[in-house]
Parts: sequence; structure tokens; C-alpha cells
Amino acid sequence: MSDKKKTASKGFSGKMGYVLAVAGSAVGLGNIWRFPYLAAKYGGGIFLLTYLILAVTFGFTLIMTETALGRRTGKSPIGAYRALGAKKMMFGGWINAIIPMLIVPYYCVIGGWVCKYFFSFLGANASQLQEDTYFTNFVSKPIEPLFWLLFFAIAVFVIIARGVEKRIEQISKILMPLLVLMAFAIAIYSVTREGALEGVKYYLIPNFKQFSIKTVVAAMGQMFYSLSIGMGILYTYGSYMKKDIDMESSIRQVELVDSIIAILAGLMIIPAVFAFAGGNPETLQAGPSLMFITMPKVFLSMPMGRIVGMVFFLLVFSAALTSAISLMESGVSTITEQTNWSRKKSTVIMLGIIIILGIPSSLGFGVLSFLRPLGGSILDFFDFITNSIMMPIAASCTVILVMKVCGFKVVIDEVKSSSKFRRKGIYLFIAKYLVLLFLAVILISSILTALGITKI
Ligand code: PFF
Repeated sequence: MSDKKKTASKGFSGKMGYVLAVAGSAVGLGNIWRFPYLAAKYGGGIFLLTYLILAVTFGFTLIMTETALGRRTGKSPIGAYRALGAKKMMFGGWINAIIPMLIVPYYCVIGGWVCKYFFSFLGANASQLQEDTYFTNFVSKPIEPLFWLLFFAIAVFVIIARGVEKRIEQISKILMPLLVLMAFAIAIYSVTREGALEGVKYYLIPNFKQFSIKTVVAAMGQMFYSLSIGMGILYTYGSYMKKDIDMESSIRQVELVDSIIAILAGLMIIPAVFAFAGGNPETLQAGPSLMFITMPKVFLSMPMGRIVGMVFFLLVFSAALTSAISLMESGVSTITEQTNWSRKKSTVIMLGIIIILGIPSSLGFGVLSFLRPLGGSILDFFDFITNSIMMPIAASCTVILVMKVCGFKVVIDEVKSSSKFRRKGIYLFIAKYLVLLFLAVILISSILTALGITKI
């Protein structure tokens, strides 16, 4: 099939379809699981403020660039680099394409945990979920977390292999608004618990004393992750975007939905840590396990808590599923494009990669817990390497591609062909003078951490 035909058949039907698909990729575990634990760990309000500023400046600049290059060339990152004549910079295309392949394995590990919690709320022993040790006992088992990793990975595989994404899109039309409503309701419940107000203050009022370069590095990594930037996905989705869809306003809508869900997730979880654990610094620093430790306590203290818990984890599951689909889809399209293997074969290979790389992340809290790369768990390690090291490099490559190879005119013309591009001035200022400088600072700080000079 010619590229043109491929693009046309996969093209989103309209603005709504595009916004839904990109929001489906953007809104996921990053918003509900990752954002709140980072906010808790890196100072609450100051993290939130830093994140939002970065999202509307750097995030906006990078999303626009990747999407415009994708739509202009009609290709995924490697093809886009080639089409733009960046022969000496093909590394940039490759790194954009490889990152999702490294994220999706550990994403499926956490997706598996979400499934386990859903079924546990459904089961008779749901009350055990509020015990502090429940989560640690579960993740340190040798077999059970592996089973759930397979469960989630195979669910994603089946959807991709059978090409039922369209159905998923229809379902997300219902699930997304439900997720927002539910997040509002749970956040209100959390915030009104006794002792929760301290948490609300911690989360919403910036304490500038807690600001450091680490806040920026963590917020930046989160912004990449949450908005699916620097992973080739926006190129690919941009290539499916029709020429007459208003790019600027679509991207604004995606950013808005993504930020609202992240903010609400923080509001569900952080005040609950104060209400149920007195804002214990150890709980606030719990990292990846925060959602799994705090949320069950909140639910089981509510009337009809088991049902609420079940619905919550079902919604988190569906958000995670649509994101995992986009991650796996990106890997599959790279393999298919580069090898000319059938889609089926590429999908099976991608499942193999997920299982092989997912197993160490899954066992890193039990059987393999003696392995502490960079002083954290194996899952943390993959998260850190992709978000804090590879993504700044991938994003820098995109900016260098524009500066040195194709010029800003290509991006601007592409955006202007469908939008007024009101924020063109700020876009150019950030893209030309700030992005590379800023990415370099992030990268140096992350490398210092990787070398053990500073801690994650
Ligand atoms: N943005 C998704 C989330 O916040 O969970 C995760 C993700 C999806 C990251 C797709 C990267 C990606 F390409």
C-alpha cells in the first residue's frame, strides 16, 4: 500500500477524532499514577506550578513542532527525518522511535497492578486492601505480578492485533467524561476528610523554599511523559491528521484535558495522604506505590467503597489501555516500516519485547530487589532513563532538525495552513532561544544523577 493510501485510511475523521485519540494517548497512568506521586515527592504546590508553566510553554512548543513535522511529511519519526533530508541526523528519528519500546514494558507492569486491584475490589477480601503491607506483599511475590503483567500486555496485544482501535475510540468517548466526573467526585470526597486541608494547602500553595533544579527536572520529565512528547507518537498521530484540522486549537484542548485530569488526580491522592497518614513524609515519598497504598484506604472508608474502588480502577485501566495502545502501536509501526515484516509478525515481536523487558521491572520489587540500578528499583530505572535522559535528547534532536535542516518556516507554514497560530511569537522565542538551553540543563542534571553524583 502506498504511504498516501496508508495515511488516508488511518486518518482521523475530524478534529474530535484527533483530539480524542491524542487525549487517549496522553491521559493515562502518567496523570493518575505518576503525577500525584511526583507532586507529593517534589514539594506539592511548587511542583504543580512548575509543571503547568512548562506545559504551556515548552510542552506547547514541542507538541506543535512534532505534530507539524508529522503532518507535513505524513510519516512516523524515522520516515519524517528521512523525508526532511536529515541524513546525518537519523539518530534523532531512531531515538524517538525506540523510547516507546522501552516505556511500554514497564507501563504494562503497572497496568497489571491496576488490573489486580480492580479484581481485588471485586473479590470478597477487599478489606485487606487497606492494610499498609498489602501492596508491598503483592509486588514482592514471584509469580502473581508476572501473571498480571501478561494479562495487561495480552489485552493490549489482542486489541492491536485485531485492529479494534476504532471501537476503543468509541468507548473512550464515554469513558473519558466518566473519568473526569469520577475524579471530581473522589477529589471532593478526599478534600473534605478530616485533616485533608493541610494536604490541599501542601498541594496547591507553592512553597518556593522547596524549589530546586530537581523540581524542574522532575516536572519536565513528567511533562514529556504525560503529553507523550519525544516519543515519536505525535509525529505519527500528526501524520494521520487531516490538513484542514485546526492544529493549534486541537493541541490546546489536549493539553487542557491532560492537565485537568492530572490536577484532579493530585487532589484525590495528596489530601488523602494527609487525612489518612497525617501527611507522613515517608508516605509522601512512597513513589510509584502511592496510588496503590492511599486510594484503597480512601475507598474503603466510603459508603459503597468497594464499588467505587472497582469503578475507579476500571477507569484507570481504560485510561492506561488507550495509552498503552498508542505506545505499542508506535513500536509496531516502527518495526513494520523498517523491516517490511507483516503487521502481525511485528505485533508478536513487540509483545516479545514487552515480556522480556517487563519481567525484570515486574520482579524488581521481590526476587530481583537486590538489583538497584542508580539506587532505585528496575522499574524506576527504566522510567528515569527514558524520561530524564532519552526524551531530552529526542526533543533536542527535533529542535536541531528544525533549526539546522528544514527551518522554522516548514513548521510555521504547516500550522498556519489550518490555524491562525496566535502563539507564533512565543513559539518562536521558546523554540529558538530557550528549548535547547533548557534541555541541556535537564540532561546534565540527569547525567549527574546517573553517575551517582546526585540522587534521583
Ligand atoms: N502519556 C501517557 C500517560 O500519561 O500515561 C503515557 C504515554 C503514552 C507515554 C504514550 C508515551 C507515549 F508515547
